[in-house]
Amino acid sequence: MTDRTATLTFSDGAPPVTFPVLAGTVGPDVIDIRTLYAKTGKFTYDTGFLSTASCNSTITYIDGDKGELLYRGYPIEELATKCDFLEVCHLLLYGELPDSTEKIAFSGRVTKHTMVNEQMQFFLRGFRRDAHPMAVMTGLVGALSAFYPDSINLHDANQRDISAIRLIAKMPTLVAMAYKYSVGQPYMYPRNDLSYAANFMRMMFATPCEDFKINEVLVRAMDRIFILHADHEQNASTSTVRLCASSGTNPFAAIAAGVACLWGPAHGGANEACLNMLYDIQAQGGAAKIGDFIAKVKDKNSTVKLMGFGHRVYKNYDPRAKLMRETCYEVLDALGLGDDPLFKLAMTLEKIAVEDEYFVSRKLYPNVDYYSGIVQKAIGIPVPLFTAIFSLARTVGWIAQLNEMIADPEYKIGRPRQLFTGQTRRSVVPLAQR
Ligand code: CMC
Repeated sequence: MTDRTATLTFSDGAPPVTFPVLAGTVGPDVIDIRTLYAKTGKFTYDTGFLSTASCNSTITYIDGDKGELLYRGYPIEELATKCDFLEVCHLLLYGELPDSTEKIAFSGRVTKHTMVNEQMQFFLRGFRRDAHPMAVMTGLVGALSAFYPDSINLHDANQRDISAIRLIAKMPTLVAMAYKYSVGQPYMYPRNDLSYAANFMRMMFATPCEDFKINEVLVRAMDRIFILHADHEQNASTSTVRLCASSGTNPFAAIAAGVACLWGPAHGGANEACLNMLYDIQAQGGAAKIGDFIAKVKDKNSTVKLMGFGHRVYKNYDPRAKLMRETCYEVLDALGLGDDPLFKLAMTLEKIAVEDEYFVSRKLYPNVDYYSGIVQKAIGIPVPLFTAIFSLARTVGWIAQLNEMIADPEYKIGRPRQLFTGQTRRSVVPLAQR
């Protein structure tokens, strides 16, 4: 709260109304308009939430102009280099990084829940083998509420905590199962002696005939992908989770809604779309065709976008993209793919775009998805699985945000209003006379 106020005046002579201005610890102040309708009979209009803070939060802070991302105050650059994903999960869920005793206890809790109910594989069998992994994930995550009815009461803090641990623990198992099902290989059970990222990679790449050989560079890259995607304040899928859970539904159902929202190419689906875009440019002639592609992107009559570029909040280089580019070098180097033509194409395209007036004037810079696809492809992850891996990583953020909302004494069911522009009241004409 500040002692400042904002006054709204009207050109039609209606009396002015005054609202408190609230200040966060950092970032733009907000005008508290919750009493606007009661005072004036009017709503605000803000499609796409361009100027609306939908909640208060203590979890993640982004300064889009500076290109800064903090989880609970810690810069993403430090978390990505000094912590592992489970430490970041602890930070997001409980507010602080764990000490070494807490880390062991937390990792132990998560690993105890990595298996899924055996029945889940029969549920999975109902899907076509060629189903998109995100279609499968939406179904599997939603189905968890049917398998774990003892942790579905959103208003019980203990049940919320158990469902949080279950979700974080089981997402890698589910994503790997979705993959194994798509290629017709047997599911690999989790191995709790491995790190979170190594266990996931083993469930993906091992078979009963051949175990997964751990490559520390690739495991670290996977872990970094998880850290960079773990939370991103009130983005579309997180807002979906909050809105969905605001009705009091169970955590698994709310997270399934987040998975569904994430699938879209403007959000989590961008990493898949970005890699497909690079393949297309390569197929059309590679670097020589970048000019034609950029011309299409700039054409007002085309719907083509430079995928992996632009962000609602970042009007500067996405700090996650810098870290991802660094990881990209490390992974390609470790695999002897330093001359990978797709990576070279991505670098050339980025260089041309960041110097082009169209992108400069609109403050369009690479986002995390620009390089994450190349890293995942190099690791051996099939392209359609990219967004499922994003959903695995974002689950902790979704659940931390959901928990924060439910614990907030000001929490109410989310219920936006509208500017109605349709037909006013009219009578039904009997069928014979229409
Ligand atoms: N390529 C070409 N033009 C673009 C792009 C792009 N990637 N992004 C924005 N623009 C243009 C847009 O056409 C508009 O131009 P004009 O002012 O002439 O109409 C201007 O830039 C402003 O864009 P906007 O659509 O109003 O911006 P937004 O905040 O509504 O959209 C976005 C943000 C991320 C949906 C959009 O930039 C986009 O579609 N990017 C490509 C998809 C992508 O990479 N998404 C991943 C986001 S990061 C991961 C995540 O958090 O999910």
